[in-house]
Amino acid sequence: MNDPHLPLSLLEAKVPRHVAFIMDGNGRWAKQRGLPRSFGHASGARRVRSLVEHAIDRDIPFVTLFAFSSENWRRPLEEVSTLMSLFVLYLEKEVKDMNVNGVRLKVIGDLSRFDARLQKLIAQAEAVTAHNTRVTVTVAANFGGRWDLVQAMTRWQAAHADQPAAEMSEDALKPFLSMAYAPDPDLLVRTGGESRVSNFLLWQLAYTEMYFTDVLWPDFSPEQFDRALAWFVKTDRRFGGVSQKVST
Ligand code: FPP
Repeated sequence: MNDPHLPLSLLEAKVPRHVAFIMDGNGRWAKQRGLPRSFGHASGARRVRSLVEHAIDRDIPFVTLFAFSSENWRRPLEEVSTLMSLFVLYLEKEVKDMNVNGVRLKVIGDLSRFDARLQKLIAQAEAVTAHNTRVTVTVAANFGGRWDLVQAMTRWQAAHADQPAAEMSEDALKPFLSMAYAPDPDLLVRTGGESRVSNFLLWQLAYTEMYFTDVLWPDFSPEQFDRALAWFVKTDRRFGGVSQKVST
């Protein structure tokens, strides 16, 4: 699809298969406007849809969003409730359109801590969208990269009770990780001015290009997304090897 933000020739050269987002800056966005933090989160949640649509326009098949980390329970109860309500609202409101737009929804994280209603909504939304193939949108909720590694090792061990731990290779563990169904992210975008991974997809980010921007999440528009994609196009991914670029 034509878009004035990015020369098409550039994008066609290198489209990431998987873009992961750390959506930071909702609170500051609200504060700048003299509004309660919950307004920032609501605005941030509204932002998600336009970015998923933009990923579809750009033929990006996997989008992952860090919505709630294992550490976010430390926030004031009221804020945690706001985030949970927004998640419920998102699931209730968007699922119909997800089917129209070919969105498969996946939710990763320790869901056992969520209330029964939310768990049921998540399971329903995943089931109803399971057949869609245009884009897989993964929402990481009560997720932590360290938690994921521990749960993968625990499940590997349960499945291989007769084998010693020395048999646990990278390839053996991979199918037990939460995102086993997706390629590793090619590009991580973190908004809100911090440059850290914050216990997100620790295993999967091993070779990911990282784009950090001061833009606050509710302001991260499709145009900003294109800027990140244009930056990604110029990166030289070596995966521990040597440059693929032809030297002159
Ligand atoms: C970080 O901003 C943002 C979060 C902890 C939550 C992100 C959640 C949403 C955007 C809404 C729900 C998502 C979906 C997919 C429905 P912050 O509060 O840390 O901001 P600050 O650093 O400015 O305080």
